[in-house]
Amino acid sequence: MRQALGKRLGGFAGAASGLHRLRRGTGDGPGAALGARPDGSEEGPWGPSPVIEVRSLLKTYGHGDAAVRALGGPPDPVTGHSPGVDLVVEQGDMVAVMGSSGSGKSTLMNILGCLDVPTAGRYLLDGIDVGGLDEHQLSLVRNRKIGFVFQSFNLVPRTPALAQVELPLAYAGVKSAERRRRALAALSLVGLADRVDHRPNELSGGQQQRVAVARALVTAPAMLLADEPTGNLDSHSTEDVLAIIDRLNASGRTVVLITHEDEVARHAKRVLRLVDGQVVEDVRQAAVDGPPPALRDPAQFASERPHALSGGATR
Ligand SMILES: Nc1ncnc2c1ncn2[C@@H]1O[C@H](COP(=O)(O)OP(=O)(O)O)[C@@H](O)[C@H]1O
Ligand SMILES: [Mg+2]
Repeated sequence: MRQALGKRLGGFAGAASGLHRLRRGTGDGPGAALGARPDGSEEGPWGPSPVIEVRSLLKTYGHGDAAVRALGGPPDPVTGHSPGVDLVVEQGDMVAVMGSSGSGKSTLMNILGCLDVPTAGRYLLDGIDVGGLDEHQLSLVRNRKIGFVFQSFNLVPRTPALAQVELPLAYAGVKSAERRRRALAALSLVGLADRVDHRPNELSGGQQQRVAVARALVTAPAMLLADEPTGNLDSHSTEDVLAIIDRLNASGRTVVLITHEDEVARHAKRVLRLVDGQVVEDVRQAAVDGPPPALRDPAQFASERPHALSGGATR
C-alpha cells in the first residue's frame, strides 16, 4: 500500500533531479517537448491554458470478446468509431463528476490523475501533453500538478500528521526546514494546527481527511482531484471537508471531484454526468471566476434542501 501511495504522491528516487524538465519552455530541450501546446504557444489570447484538455478519449479494458469499453461510448456498429470524451476544465473551476456505478468515473479519474493511460485520445494537463510521457515523467507530473484526495484517506499508518503532509514535498526534493514550514501552513489551513503530532488512529475520520487535503494542497498543485472525498464521513465531517474545498476553490484552486451524492455536487460550479462512459450532461451552477455556490450566498445555500438540488442541477 505504501508503494501504491508513493505512486499517487509522485514519489520515486530522483524526483528532484528531473523537476526542471517539467517547465514549459520554448527552447528545444526536453522541457519544450513536455510543455508544448498543440499550437506551440504557452498561453492563448483568451488567457491561461485550461488545467484539463481532453480530446476523443477512449479507454478499453481487455481484448477481443472480453473487451470492455469503460470510457468513450460504444463503437458505431457501421463505422466502428466511438465518440470519445471531450472535456475542457478551466483554471479556477470546481467540477463534480457524477454517474451511477460502472459509468466510468474511476476510469476517468485514473486517467486525469495520470495513474492510468487512455487507449486512445489526447490529454493535456496544465498544458503538458501527458500522452508521450514515460513512468518517470508521469510521476513528476503527478507530484507537481495534482493533489489527490481519496475516499479512504490513504494516510500512512502510525505516522504523525506533519510527516504525512511533508511526504509529497520530500518526494519533490524540498529541504527539511521548508517542508516543515509549508506542511504546518497547510495543516493550519485545514484547521489542524493543534493536531500536527497526531497519528491517523488518534484522529477522527473528518480530521484524517483534512490531513489528506493538507497533503494534497501542500505542493500547490494545478488541480485537486478528489474521488468520493466524503464517502466515508458522517454529515458533520462532510460539511467540514466540503467547506475547506470550497475555500480552496474560492482562492483559485481548480477542483475536480467525483461523487454520487447530490449534497456534494451542489458545492460544485459545474456538474458533469457520465452514462456508459460518455458525458451526457454538463451543467454550470456558478461562474468559473466567481465564488463556488456555497460561498456565493451562504445563508441561502444552507437553507436549500439537498433534494431540491436535483431540480437545480437541471435548470
Ligand atoms: N480493470 C478493469 N478491467 C476490466 N473492466 C474494468 C476495469 N475497471 C473498470 N472496468 C469496467 O469499466 C466500466 C467503468 O468502470 P469504473 O470506471 O470503475 O466505473 P465507476 O467508477 O463509475 O463505478 C465498468 O463496466 C467496469 O466494470
Ligand atoms: Mg468508481
